[in-house]
Amino acid sequence: MPKCLIDGKEVEFSPGENLVKVAKRAGVEIPVFCYHPGLSVVAQCRMCYVEVEKMPKLQTACSTMAAEGMVVKTQSEAVKKGRQGTMEFLLLNHPLDCPICDKAGECDLQDNSFGHGSANMRHSEERRTYVDVDMGPVIQKNMNRCIHCTRCIRFGDEVAGIHEMVAIKRGNNIDITTIDGKQLKTEYAGNYSDICPTGSLTLKDFRFKKRAWMLKKTETVCEGCSKGCNMEIQHEGNVVYRCVPRENLEINKHWMCDEGRFNYRYTQDESRIVDPTLRAPDGHKGAAWQDVIATVESRIRGGEVLFLLGTDLTNEELSAIREAASALRTGIKIRTFGTPGVTKTSEDGSADNILKMKSKTSNLNGAEKLGLEPLAGDAKADTVIVFRGGRAALPKVEAKWSAGIGVFNREEASGFDSVLPGLAFTEKEGTVVNHAGIEQRISRAVRPKGTCKSVPEVLMSLLNTKSKAGQA
Ligand code: SF4
Ligand code: SF4
Ligand code: FES
Repeated sequence: MPKCLIDGKEVEFSPGENLVKVAKRAGVEIPVFCYHPGLSVVAQCRMCYVEVEKMPKLQTACSTMAAEGMVVKTQSEAVKKGRQGTMEFLLLNHPLDCPICDKAGECDLQDNSFGHGSANMRHSEERRTYVDVDMGPVIQKNMNRCIHCTRCIRFGDEVAGIHEMVAIKRGNNIDITTIDGKQLKTEYAGNYSDICPTGSLTLKDFRFKKRAWMLKKTETVCEGCSKGCNMEIQHEGNVVYRCVPRENLEINKHWMCDEGRFNYRYTQDESRIVDPTLRAPDGHKGAAWQDVIATVESRIRGGEVLFLLGTDLTNEELSAIREAASALRTGIKIRTFGTPGVTKTSEDGSADNILKMKSKTSNLNGAEKLGLEPLAGDAKADTVIVFRGGRAALPKVEAKWSAGIGVFNREEASGFDSVLPGLAFTEKEGTVVNHAGIEQRISRAVRPKGTCKSVPEVLMSLLNTKSKAGQA
């Protein structure tokens, strides 16, 4: 492999790699604004200046490809002066509102200003200000903070496949906005906030809720469809505040869709059932765990019993339910459910040209690999027990008695005679298999709500109740 020298360190590179990437491998961080590894290179912010031997002027590392024997300096006096000049220009119009900005603590402008800017500023003119357009339900715009890096414009054009962000006017009056001031249309709008290196494009969902440095981060996988985008749950005090994509070049690259990003909301919605219930003559009533377990166990002792398993459950949960079903009694029929019209992986496929898949659950492939068969038509039996992670679309149930085990809201719960509340994807560990057959791990970020129990805990209680009933 060819080699070059970065700050005196010899480093190998693949032909076509730019100096930002190669330097990173050598442990040298080159500051950037307009460069993003998932977007085209435009080299317009001039933050990534480096000195390259035999080249008379400073070069932009993002647009300079490494070459055999190249000697690069990233910390020379000329480089420091160049970066300081860039920062001085970028901050000419930037407001001093870090204390009230949601990006504070994770802002490239803050970090690069601290690391590479100058303590003094020669500028004394008034800063320009803008009246911002409404960008729709996902993004809050604050153009005063914009540094015109054009990452957002390129994201729309190159990734979201929609030319909706533009730069109008020029020079000091430049405005990064939407065409004709329309609201954003893409279903991937949350990524605008992730890639904006300043607080110009922030998430409405997250605004003013929590300081970035207070958040704990748990690496996991989105459960929104069978793509299995890698993401991070950011939480504090047992509350999820936001989900952001994690880089996985094989699956989701750097992105995620809005449906997956905001999917976590149902897990902490006030309508979620978090304590067991039993139907009484005048509606659902709270009940003790031992009572609902005893009721379910007695209901599955006789008659025709159907266990319906959501393809939003993990491999471990699906296997445990199948094993417990045969231990509870013979003849329990097991079928899966998840997305209407997508009952098998052969019916799954891309729902758009970006990431989304037709299957709206994360583990259709895993359920199929375990040999579980999908439900055909309505769910009919004397007793139907529905196990569900929280996303699988509930089928029509026709039964003398039915129970839901897992995550349900009040409206969904009203269709069952009993609900045994379970863990959402943010509250449990396990593995799922995406549409391409890649097995991935989901991780627990927060503690379960109320008295919610895991599927194995519920199954163990049912088996214990059965063995006690057998001894009596
Ligand atoms: S809004 Fe953000 S991403 Fe877009 S040009 Fe301005 S600073 Fe860059
Ligand atoms: S494409 Fe699917 S897996 Fe990816 S973020 Fe969206 S819903 Fe989640
Ligand atoms: S990051 Fe290289 S010019 Fe902007």
